[in-house]
Amino acid sequence: MEQLAGKVAVVTGAASGIGRALAHRFAAEGMHLVLADIEAPPLAEAVEELTASGAAAVGVVADVADAAAVERLRDASVEAFGTVHVVCNNAGVSGGTGPVHELTTADWAWTLGVNLWGVIHGHQAFQPLLLAQGEGHIVNTASIAGHTAFPGMAPYNVAKHGVVALSETVYQELLAEASPVGISVLCPGFVSTRIMESDRNRPEALPRPLVAEEDPERELFRALAREFFAGQKPPAEVADLVVDAIRERRFYVFTDEVFDAHVAERHAWIQQADNPRRLGNLIEESLGLDPGALGAGGN
Ligand code: NAI
Repeated sequence: MEQLAGKVAVVTGAASGIGRALAHRFAAEGMHLVLADIEAPPLAEAVEELTASGAAAVGVVADVADAAAVERLRDASVEAFGTVHVVCNNAGVSGGTGPVHELTTADWAWTLGVNLWGVIHGHQAFQPLLLAQGEGHIVNTASIAGHTAFPGMAPYNVAKHGVVALSETVYQELLAEASPVGISVLCPGFVSTRIMESDRNRPEALPRPLVAEEDPERELFRALAREFFAGQKPPAEVADLVVDAIRERRFYVFTDEVFDAHVAERHAWIQQADNPRRLGNLIEESLGLDPGALGAGGN
């Protein structure tokens, strides 16, 4: 989609981080905006910020894990601006962490509900509209975790691999139809956002297990990870890459090279049917530390 001015963008997870930066970047292109998020106060603040700068923006409180809520988001978007052109299925949480044998069904349900079902719901609600009007672009936020499998974060890895697979499938289906609708999959490495504070949005119905609450090693890992993320790439730079990808119909959007060597290494294991080497957790691998150097907290 070359021409963005005057077009309508819907962004989920728009109250913070990458989603909020996307909304600002789209506004700078002259787009009309629908911001969706589960967190009402920062969502209202984000909408206020945009409208104060002269953009046409509305906010819709929506839980992307709820299919009906995403359908209501589509209806509210059409009601506000007549149609939708760009859909960013971006809302996400770091989710339940810990070794798989300790994770609960609630950990899986929360993480997959937001990070995978949220994207599926976005396709179900919006893709028919884009196809019918013969114009539009979908941006699914996956992660470099959709191309790796670091220990201690299975639900996140599974969800993000799912988002990459879903996006690649839709890409092929659009090609087969010679559709004018485009799709990109955003695979950030590390971006300075509130992702490590995702527990703020964990539903009460899917509580965090007591064992994780009381594990000082895991708390230490989370604190380290929060500090680490704070010094990473500004979300505005990611938003620039996304706008370029929409314009150029580029499918894969990687934001940094931090795990390039590891992704290539993993592809080689697969091609040669080699056993993977022992990996450290996300922070150990990114800092080049030995597996286990930070204790068992992230695993
Ligand atoms: P963030 O925490 O700053 O923003 C995420 C937003 O999603 C928040 O506003 C939150 O309220 C919202 N959200 C959470 N649950 C929701 C739900 N059920 N329904 C609707 N909204 C919900 O984090 P960030 O980093 O901006 O996350 C955006 C996306 O980027 C996520 O999909 C995340 O997995 C992905 N990502 C982030 C990376 C990073 O380094 N920050 C790296 C790779 C991927």
